[in-house]
This record gives sequence, C-alpha cells and structure tokens, in this order.
Amino acid sequence: MNFEKEMKEKVKEVQAVIDSYLPEESGFQRTLLEAMNYSMTAGGKRLRPLMMLETYRLFGGTSGVIRPFLAAIEMIHTHSLIHDDLPAMDNDEYRRGRKTTHVVYGEAMGILAGDGLLNFAYETAARAFEMEPDNKNVGKAFRVLTSKTGIYGMIGGQSVDVEMAGQPLSAEKLDFIYRLKTSALIEGAMMTGAILAGASDEKIDKIQQIAQKVGIAFQIQDDILDMTSSMAVLGKPINSDEKNHKTTYVTLYGLEDSRKKVEGISREAIALLDSLEEKNEFLRALILSLIYREK
Ligand code: IPE
Ligand code: IPE
Ligand code: MG
Ligand code: MG
Ligand code: MG
Repeated sequence: MNFEKEMKEKVKEVQAVIDSYLPEESGFQRTLLEAMNYSMTAGGKRLRPLMMLETYRLFGGTSGVIRPFLAAIEMIHTHSLIHDDLPAMDNDEYRRGRKTTHVVYGEAMGILAGDGLLNFAYETAARAFEMEPDNKNVGKAFRVLTSKTGIYGMIGGQSVDVEMAGQPLSAEKLDFIYRLKTSALIEGAMMTGAILAGASDEKIDKIQQIAQKVGIAFQIQDDILDMTSSMAVLGKPINSDEKNHKTTYVTLYGLEDSRKKVEGISREAIALLDSLEEKNEFLRALILSLIYREK
C-alpha cells in the first residue's frame, strides 16, 4: 500500500475513535457542546493522535487502553487552537476551513468551548484507569499528557508567545517558545504511546527527543506556510504572524534557511528513530512527509 492510501486509512481509524468520545449535544448547556463539536468535527490533520497510535504500535502496543488517550490529545490540541484564535490572542477568523469558534458562537462561548474541551480531554483520558485498573502505565501516561499541556508545556509556551509579540526575541527564547507551544503536545502524544506500550524509560526519553525535533520542524514549517501559502490551502488566514508582529524563524533567519532547518531537524529525528531496534515504517514515512507538507 502506498503512503497516501495508508495515511487516509489511519486518519479514518483515529477519526472514528475521536468521534466515539465526543459529547452528545443535549441539555441546557447544548450551545457549549455544539461549539466544542463544531471545531472538533471541522477536520484537521489528526497528526497528534496518529503519532501517538503509531508510537504505541512501534513498541508493540495492541490494547484498547490507547483509545481514550487518542481522543484526549486531539481535544487538548483543538482547545489550544480555539483559544489561540481568540481576539485577545492571534485574533484569527478562520480555522480548519471554517469561521473560528468565537466568530460563530461569540467570544464567551469560544472561551468556554476551549475550557470545556480541555477538561473533557482529562475526563476522557481518565476512562483508561477504569479500563485497566492494574495497569501502572495509565497513571504515568496521564501525568505526562497533562504536564505537556500545562504551564511547563503548551500553555507555558503560548504565554511567552503572546507576551513577546511585537518585541525582538533571542534565538534562545524563540526555541523555548517553539519547544513549549508546539513540541510539547507532540512529545505528549508520542511519549503517551510509548508509555502505554510499556517502553523502557530510556526509550521513552529517546521518543521525547524525536518528538521535540518533529515539533520544532513542524512549527518552522507552519511559520513558512503562514508567509507563502494561501487560506484556501491552509484553511486558516495567512500573514497572521506579521499581523501580530510575531518574531518567527522566518523573520529571524529568512525563508531559505528556515526551509533548510525544517529538513535538517527532521532528518535528525529520523536518525534517532532509526537508532531504535523497534521499527515502524509508517511512522518514519509520516515524519519524512512533514518536511514537505503544504498544509
Ligand atoms: C496548528 O496545528 C497549530 C500549530 C502547532 C502550528 P496543526 O497544523 O496540526 O492543525 P490541524 O490540527 O491540522 O488543524
Ligand atoms: C500556535 O502557533 C501553536 C498552538 C499552541 C496553538 P500558531 O499561532 O502559529 O498556530 P496557527 O498558525 O494559528 O495554527
Ligand atoms: Mg499563536
Ligand atoms: Mg495562531
Ligand atoms: Mg502559525
């Protein structure tokens, strides 16, 4: 099977898992639930649950205990997008090819839909404790997933990103922002997959290094596309970084060097992956494909 076809099937597979955990739109808080599902069902690449599942398989995982975690990481990610687009943050009006949640449902409901998804992600992941009460790896995975989301992870990174908008940034601080705002959730995804499959601490650490590189390359490519792509292709506005006076890899190093960075850092991630005795050809191809992604 070729990569594109396999990719489609795997996205379908994680999509079905995500759908099975979405809240039913009923009760007096129905508008909130609709706003949460509006963004969750708008598409998106589903990269983080895919990477979680394929890392789980890399280490031989086969149990259903991964399922609530797959849904949870996409809920956390979608929460981060809803809040990232709010007027107080990047103030963007399109996401995943649709008007953003706050534009359709109003700002208050946008804030609550983001909060709702973040909390529902934890409610969902916590179901794994009941599925396998004796599995110690569930608690370990839960702790990693939640900490990669929080103040030392994605949310911490977003705070420095908004605080530093309009100000010059050192390369060191820019790396810090990328590592936290973007790599952290990819680290959370891949590490959770490795932990649930019972990988050793040494291997979990290697997975973290791989995911960190994938995340940095992913964010640099996002910044490149923000300058070079189109809303029709991305499903979100271009020139958002310029509008918000963000320092990015592209503003610091230029397009050409940024492209080289994406390729170089991704190849480092692949080399680390290749150094593991466990193999997953699809995961390898997925990381490679991100170098040339157009959306
Ligand atoms: C966008 O993430 C936010 C960044 C970290 C750059 P994605 O590009 O994975 O967004 P979706 O999930 O496909 O919409
Ligand atoms: C945000 O980076 C990463 C998140 C944690 C959401 P961007 O602000 O560049 O993401 P996009 O371009 O809006 O998707
Ligand atoms: Mg942002
Ligand atoms: Mg943004
Ligand atoms: Mg961007």
